[in-house]
This record gives sequence, structure tokens and C-alpha cells, in this order.
Amino acid sequence: MDVLQLDTVRLAADRSCLEILDQTLLPGTVKVLRVSRIEDIWEAIKVLRVRGAPAIGVCAGYGIALTASRIETEDPETFCRAFLEQKEYLASARPTAVNLFWALDRMERTMRACLDRPIPAVKERLFEEAQTIRDEDVAISRSIGEIGFSLLRHGDGILTHCNAGTLATAKYGTATAPMYAAQARGWTDFRVYCDETRPLLQGARLTAFELYSAGIDTTLICDNMASIVMKSGKINIVFVGCDRVARNGDAANKIGTSGVAILARHYGIPFYVCAPSSTIDMTLDSGDQIPIEERAAEEVTEMWYRERMAPQGVKVYNPAFDVTDHSLITGIITEKGLCRAPYGPAFEALGIGT
Ligand code: MRU
Repeated sequence: MDVLQLDTVRLAADRSCLEILDQTLLPGTVKVLRVSRIEDIWEAIKVLRVRGAPAIGVCAGYGIALTASRIETEDPETFCRAFLEQKEYLASARPTAVNLFWALDRMERTMRACLDRPIPAVKERLFEEAQTIRDEDVAISRSIGEIGFSLLRHGDGILTHCNAGTLATAKYGTATAPMYAAQARGWTDFRVYCDETRPLLQGARLTAFELYSAGIDTTLICDNMASIVMKSGKINIVFVGCDRVARNGDAANKIGTSGVAILARHYGIPFYVCAPSSTIDMTLDSGDQIPIEERAAEEVTEMWYRERMAPQGVKVYNPAFDVTDHSLITGIITEKGLCRAPYGPAFEALGIGT
């Protein structure tokens, strides 16, 4: 299967709905869901049918363009009010990935900038902007891929965590983009290790699926195996994605990422965060201010198991993300360039946040 041809989310040709690849069913079933109600778009983001920070942003852009197209009024003020209600609702789906809010804010700015036009033209402009967000995302991933590729050497072993792959973006992924760039140049001598990524198994179900399907040398490990794999010399570099990066370079990503960074530091392995500039939140001074999503206990106690694997009633703590301290990050790869500490000035030098 050519995974790079799979669209995580797109607008149906007749603009009647969003077509979302249901990632909760992967790798066993490749099914595209057609969702048109705003509640169903919200639900698709909430339960991770569409997930990964950039893909969530693309989905939010298309989603609000679609739902705003159904607002029945010719009055700009009424349109604006209804748009803002929809925006607020979609923004409540998940708290950590800043791309959700970034995309919705961008759509709001687009709407306000053309509100002096007839409402049908405003609706058309919103569809255009959503498509631009999607197309830009492809270009961003390609650029991150080229920069990340320049850090690779023949024979490298690469570790990645969660899925920051093509399934998490419009195409190519962020952490996987250097791998696809290497493959496109005919490199066959690099190996990728994917952490399975408890509790939702994005590494096993999604990263292993997409890289293996793409013909890349892929080995799946449980999260707690990363240390032995690093110690045995099999890993030369770590690439991970992120959901939100603070001004100082602290980076929130899927739970377990900070542990990988600590291990990488211990074993002297470079640890790179791949971050579209839309994921960098210059309004936050440090990672302490990043809201961390907590999810249902069942994801830990019974999901994926044939029977429940924890005593009934036991307390469960299920944070979906953690923050890797900037001091553990070798570099942050944005589409505009590779940033090294101190990160705030490095982001500003690239025009990020200005
Ligand atoms: O909960 P998820 O699956 O949405 O978490 C995804 C991640 O943590 C990714 O690494 C991150 O969003 C970057 S995707 C390019």
C-alpha cells in the first residue's frame, strides 16, 4: 500500500462532508468516514479518528469552513456570531495540540478580513483558506524532511515515539519526513525503531504500519525497551514530533517522549524535535504553561486487552502528553530552519511568532 497516498482528512469533492481516515481502526481496517455534523467532527478529533497536531489543524480548518458554509444568514454580524460559536465548540475537542487553536484563529482572521463581502463569498474564502492550510502543511513537512535528512548518515538507526508520520499530517509527517526523504534518494541502509506508545499504541498501530507499508526497515519495540536498544548501539539519532513548543523550547509531545529524551541524553544520542512553526506557541514562556490532556482510565485498564488488566476501582492517571525540557533537546527542526538553544532567540531569528 502506498501510505503517502492516504489522505488523513479531506473535503469531499461536492463539499458535503469531510472524509476522515478513521485511525482508530488502523492497521487492520482502512476506512474513510464521511462526517458532516459539527458534533461528529468534534468527536473524530476527540477520539483520535484524526489525530496528530498538524492533521488536527487541517481538520479544524476544513471543519469550520464546512460548518460555517451552512450558517443561514446574509447578515455579517449574525454570521460572525455563529462562526465564533462553532469555533469555540471545535476548539474544545482537545487541549494540548496548539495547531487546533492556531488553525481556528487563522480561519477567524480570514473570515473577519472579508466580512464586508456578501456571505456566500465569505464562505467561499473560508474553503480556500482551509485548502491553503492543508497545502502548506505538505510543504512544511517536506521542508522539515530535507533539514532532518541532512542530519542522517548512512547506516543510521533512528528511534521515534508515537506517530508523527504521514498519518499525523497532510503528508510525509514531521518526524518521519527525514525517513521518506532518505528513501526518496534511494537510501536503503537506515533502520527505524518505533516505540509502541502506550496506552493508545500510535507507534504500533500507526507508525509501524505506515513505515513498514512504505518499505522502510522498521522494528517495533515496547516503550520500556528503548533503553536496551540505545545501550546496544542500535540508535544513532532520535526524531519525535510535538504538539506544542513553548518559547524556551520546552516541547510537549505524546506521553513517554520526555523519558526517551532522558535516555537519549544518558546514552549520548542526539534528540531532535520536528516542529512546524504553527506548533510553536510563543505566548508561553515555558512548558509548565502547556495544558496537558488527561484521558479516560479505560485507555489504560482495558483498551486493546481481551479482558480488563487492572483491578476494578484502582486509581488511574492517564496524561496523554508530557513536556521534554529544552535542555534535553539537541535541536528543533522547523520548516524555516534548524533551531539550537537558546530557542527563543532562534525562533525569533526565523521570524517565528512575529
Ligand atoms: O494523541 P495524538 O495521537 O494526537 O498525539 C500525537 C503526537 O503526540 C504527535 O507526536 C504530535 O502530534 C506530532 S504529529 C506530527
